[in-house]
Amino acid sequence: MAAFASEFYLGASSGYTTPIMLVLGIETSCDETGVALYDTECGLLAHGLYTQIAMHREYGGVVPELASRDHIRRVLPLVGEVLGKSGKALDEVDAIAYTQGPGLAGALLVGASVGASLGFALGKPVIGVHHLEGHLLSPLLSSPAPDFPFVALLVSGGHTQLIRVDGIGRYTLLGDTLDDAAGEAFDKTAKLLGLGYPGGAALSALAEKGRPGRFRLPRPMLNSPDFDFSFSGLKTAALTLVRSQENDEETHADIARAFQDAIVEVLVKKSLLAARKCGLERLVVAGGVSANSELRRILSEKAAGIEVFYPDLEFCTDNGAMIAFAGAMRFLRGATPETGFKVRARWDLEFLQGSADLTQALP
Ligand code: KG4
Ligand code: ZN
Repeated sequence: MAAFASEFYLGASSGYTTPIMLVLGIETSCDETGVALYDTECGLLAHGLYTQIAMHREYGGVVPELASRDHIRRVLPLVGEVLGKSGKALDEVDAIAYTQGPGLAGALLVGASVGASLGFALGKPVIGVHHLEGHLLSPLLSSPAPDFPFVALLVSGGHTQLIRVDGIGRYTLLGDTLDDAAGEAFDKTAKLLGLGYPGGAALSALAEKGRPGRFRLPRPMLNSPDFDFSFSGLKTAALTLVRSQENDEETHADIARAFQDAIVEVLVKKSLLAARKCGLERLVVAGGVSANSELRRILSEKAAGIEVFYPDLEFCTDNGAMIAFAGAMRFLRGATPETGFKVRARWDLEFLQGSADLTQALP
């Protein structure tokens, strides 16, 4: 932890003394190329996203090598497009933030090398951002933005975590998934139902047509005395159910409904409990699954006294805006720029647990 802190927070020694104004964010950790320009005074100026979903769909999942090659094709044109939309020139950019990890190594390397090269060419500081911090802070791009402290439910394709957030860089992990992430369970169940990749949104749309209560699937760890999750048993129960039933659309819709009801009930109960146990009245939900309308509906129904915040729908899944924003928050607090570039395909959660208190360091 100390290593992380010294690497990112000793801003006084960074040598960059001008206030950061305009941050270019680059996201290439998986299957979306995202670019954005965030102005620390005016907010988000422009963003652009190129999704590779159609390309990976025929393989039933992300093919890492294809992902890297496509990021290479897309990232610079997207930078040009975002600059054009915002009316800014490249040399007006004050700093660059790129996703350093976690993610696919080859895909991350594209954003890292482009970010580092632009920084070198322009003589501007560059910072590597943790993808999960991007998601975690993405609701702060919305209005009204939540004040600190809050409890965050981070539900993406790769993660399902409850985190206490006391400020930028002040994160305490409360609970984690023991196996599959919520988005992964959505995707795998969607695949069983023939909905393609990534199936979360399609499963959710099918579930809307399903009848509640025809099938009941297990709610794993619903009553466990912790904030951990487990979704692999639910996915297996869905598999067994699919195999035992007719293969028609109505049945599939009812199964999708049963699956979504089960997962939503667990996410809602544990998140609200975590907020209450922490004595906090604000809950933030972020990551791809935060786009799920049933999750949003049930949370607002059950929240009673807890205010729930989400990213705008376009910023639930991977995007450049959250990386530009997280980078800007770190630069504002004096983060040390990178020298050279590196990626971290696996970037441990120790980063999120008790990283340095940055809230006091704002200019
Ligand atoms: O945050 P994200 O873009 O990627 C990771 O960082 O992992 O999340 C993608 C995940 C996928 O598993 C996708 O199926 C899921 O978010 N997802 C949804 C919905 N939209 C995206 N899951 C449920 N309901 C949705 N509406
Ligand atoms: Zn993500």
